[in-house]
Order: sequence, then C-alpha cells, then structure tokens
Amino acid sequence: MKNVLVIHGPNLNLLGTREPDVYGSTTLGELEGQIAGWAAAMDLHCSFFQSNHEGALIDALHEARASVDGVVINGGALTHYSYALHDALVAIDKPTVEVHISNVHAREAWRRTSVTAPAADHTIYGRGLRGYHDALRRLVTRAAVPPQRVSYGQADAQYAELRVPDGADPHPVAVLIHGGFWQDVWTLDLMDSLAVDLHTRGWATWNVEYRRVDNGGGWPLTMEDVAAALDHLSQLSSVHGLDLADVVAVGHSAGGQLALWSAARPARYPVQPDVTPLVVPQRVVALAPVADLTEAFRLDLDDGAVERFLRRTPAAGPERYQAASPIQQLPLGARQLIVHGDADDRVPVDISQAYVAASQKAGDDVTFHLHPGADHFGMIDPGSVEWAGVIEWLAD
Ligand code: DQA
Repeated sequence: MKNVLVIHGPNLNLLGTREPDVYGSTTLGELEGQIAGWAAAMDLHCSFFQSNHEGALIDALHEARASVDGVVINGGALTHYSYALHDALVAIDKPTVEVHISNVHAREAWRRTSVTAPAADHTIYGRGLRGYHDALRRLVTRAAVPPQRVSYGQADAQYAELRVPDGADPHPVAVLIHGGFWQDVWTLDLMDSLAVDLHTRGWATWNVEYRRVDNGGGWPLTMEDVAAALDHLSQLSSVHGLDLADVVAVGHSAGGQLALWSAARPARYPVQPDVTPLVVPQRVVALAPVADLTEAFRLDLDDGAVERFLRRTPAAGPERYQAASPIQQLPLGARQLIVHGDADDRVPVDISQAYVAASQKAGDDVTFHLHPGADHFGMIDPGSVEWAGVIEWLAD
C-alpha cells in the first residue's frame, strides 16, 4: 500500500462553513493537509479529489485505477443513492474504506442506507475527522497482513478477523477487544495495528467485533458475543494450530471491561448459567479499562454510556453491575496487566488504581503500568512506550 486516493463528493468543498455543528470548522483544504500528515507517518502518499458531480467522481476513480493502491471515499449524499458510484468502486477493485464525518446512523433515516458501502471493505462514521486517520490505518494494516474474516454468529457484527503467523505451531493467541463505550461508531479497526504488531511477533490474533448498544447489542448480548467469539476459537484451533492453553485477551477501554470480564466467565458467567465456557483467557491485558462500571456510572463517563450499555442504573439493576463489572468479579484467576495513563480524559486513571488495589487484595496476580502524561488512545499505537511495556510483560 503506497498510493491512496482520498475522494470527496458533493458539498464537502464547503467543509468549515457548512453546518459546522455537524461537520466542524475545519476546511477541506485543512483536512487534506491533516490527512497528508497522517499518511506520511504511515509511509503513504495521498492524492485528493473533490467534486459535486457524480460523473466527475466516477471519472476520477477510473483514472486512478492504474496509479493507486487504495481508496478512502466520503461520497457525501451520493453515498445514499448512487449505484453508479458503487459500481465504479467495484469496477476499479481497490481496497476501499468509506468514511463519514458525522454519525449517519443517528441522523435522518435516509442517511442510514449506504448503497456504496457494500463496495467498500469497511465503513467508518461518526468519529469526526479522526475517521480519515483510522481509514488509512485500516488500509495499511490490511495490506501488511490480510486477515481472514470469520463469522461466529448470524448477526452482521458477529465476526472476528483472524491472522495466523507463519512458523511452527501451536501459536499463542491474542484476542483483541476494541473499546468505544459499547457504541456502534467504534469498530474493530481500532485494534488493527496491535493485531498486526502481535502477528509479526509470532502471535495468532483474533480481533473481535461484537454487537454494540446501537446495533442490536448492549446487555447482555455484547457480553454473550465476546463469550461466543472466544468459544469459537475452539473450532479453529486444530486447523490453524492455535494454542488454547496460551490465550491472552487484550482489551482497550470498554473492551478492557469485556476482556477482564471474559477471564471471570467460568465462575460467574451471568447470562447463560448452563453454558460451559470452552475458551477462557489465561492472561488479560487491559488498556485504560473501564474496570468499575458503578464508578464509571457515577462519573457519568461518556454522558451516560454505562447506563446505555446495562440499561439500568446501579440502583435499579445491581445484579447487572455485579455480573458485568470486573471489580465486582474478583478474583479473576487470570494473570493481568493493567495499563493506564494519568492524562486520560475519557477513563480516569483512578479507576485502574482502585481496581489494581482490589485485585491484589483479592489475591490476583496483577501488574500495573501507570504512565505519566499518557492519554487514552496513544497506547493502541504499537509505537508507543505503553505498548512496548505490554510486549515486555507478554514475553515474561
Ligand atoms: C457525510 C454524511 C452524508 O449523509 C452527507 O450527505 C454528507 C456528509 C459525512 O461525512 O458525514 O455530505 O458523508
């Protein structure tokens, strides 16, 4: 992956002045500058094209066919009805990520349909301008080590991406569980770079998607999905040489809650008491985890995220908090590494501090890496010092 075409459809030339409450105040020129910077850091070169005319966009895609390796497209409103744009993307057959700045699923109903998305490998929406960064990362990581997509259930979101290393098996397995306060705008692409990094270090990686609050999940389905994704590894282990006695769950943020919870599952699996777990991680790496849901509710993290997830307040549904909150499940029994930065403005470091103290008291084998000055997202970049510490701990 070297050359990427970033293509913008109708009205996106007006970014900066157009509905700034929805799209922000950055102009298209400034955005393209930012994208070029992100691209350079990923060893990519971007070319840019914008038009208000469907045919011009299609011509640009055709022309790029010979020179680009990937496409990032924000088709604007054409997304919702241009079959011609869909066909052009299919015709040029390049890895493609569709991006929308706004949360198209939380606006008018007609914006929920994308006729172009089936021609793309992935869609990112509702993350603001950062979505373009994440789209480039998606293209780079897929090109570096193409994953195999495996469904573990019937719903669209019930899938994971498997990467199996070369070399002698059995391979240790890293299960990656992304965060995003259990909401649908955040998807498994957040963990792509860590998956590729672990893969190059000899790990089989299983990057898990799951149903989230606004796409059919939330209590208890989100947790059931993580459980099902883990158990599905038992169907893959002999074909791919996976070592199910050496599984680490690596979760970030809300994914940290899910990763820690997954290790407590044998004793306290709340939803289906008669289901015997098939795969339980022996180790957990929790990056800036939401390890205490009652406290996260009290602090009103992400404006009510915990209540949206569990669909109860702690007063109305204490049994849900009991079943889902890692700090209420101690001891987990698994070896744990908790990583947190004290400049995290999404999940306060105090949550991890209190969790680690409680975990040690309960007799768990837990290590705490507190990083002064580190924020919430830096640690999912494999180039970060936080991740270097994780790699060291994993090798221990
Ligand atoms: C958009 C969303 C579309 O629905 C809209 O027509 C746009 C911009 C976005 O980036 O959020 O023009 O693609």
